[in-house]
Amino acid sequence: MDRLFEPYLMNIEEVIEESPDTRTFKLAFADPARGEKFSFKAGQFGEYSVYGMGESTFCIASSPTRSKGFIECSVKKFGRVTTVLHDLNVGDQVGFRGPYGNWFPLEEMFGHNLLFVAGGIGLAPVRSIIWNCLDMRDKFKEVTILHCARSVNDLVYKRELEEWGRMKDVKLILGVDPGGETPDWKGYVGFPPQILEKEQPTVANTKVVTCGPPIMIKFTVLALAKLGFADRDIITTLEMRMKCGLGKCGRCNIGPIYVCKDGPVFNYEQIKGFPQEF
Ligand code: FES
Repeated sequence: MDRLFEPYLMNIEEVIEESPDTRTFKLAFADPARGEKFSFKAGQFGEYSVYGMGESTFCIASSPTRSKGFIECSVKKFGRVTTVLHDLNVGDQVGFRGPYGNWFPLEEMFGHNLLFVAGGIGLAPVRSIIWNCLDMRDKFKEVTILHCARSVNDLVYKRELEEWGRMKDVKLILGVDPGGETPDWKGYVGFPPQILEKEQPTVANTKVVTCGPPIMIKFTVLALAKLGFADRDIITTLEMRMKCGLGKCGRCNIGPIYVCKDGPVFNYEQIKGFPQEF
């Protein structure tokens, strides 16, 4: 990162409708030389700005193995900046500061089974590390992906879900909340903890990466612990309340921890003692 506060100018090259309230933006560096120099690791995040409207924090949703000269971010519409972002189209420009924060411990995951558990748009950071791992597939053993959403319509990255579902060396499990299923739905109807209990994933030698709404993470982690996963093998990412991304504004601290600088990636051993809301 060569500029701490000055955003890179990014051209919107593609907009993908993921679900009724979520879009993925492919953002190419307006200055190709900067794009050439830019690098990041799966799990890192950035600050995205619309001129005159402010900034919002999102993870980088693309994999470092698949995004040279551009990044992708997935934006769920829920506030002022995200609403403005949703109104932008191919050819418009946004600002991007980053990459910030730590990243998923990829090397520590080598030689292990991998279990990814993502709820809703929590699949965005997990998607980055999934593709990163799939692009070096021989370094890992079993790969299982569990993605859940409120309804079939709310499942994100549908094209990639299909692709992962076709891969012979990937086990894809999908679930939707009760009432969110369609008549032809063939996946689970239930919540991640119940699905994990039914699936009984391999515990030995497995690293878990999970992300989703806080309430989902909380109960998923408890279910994983009950299944026998060690706290240090359960890895998650927190992205709440960040503003500066640089440890300066004090918005993201949890006690002495700054999510933007010390995280956003933590294992359960590290965050176990955090207050309830985390
Ligand atoms: S986002 Fe400003 S201190 Fe962490």
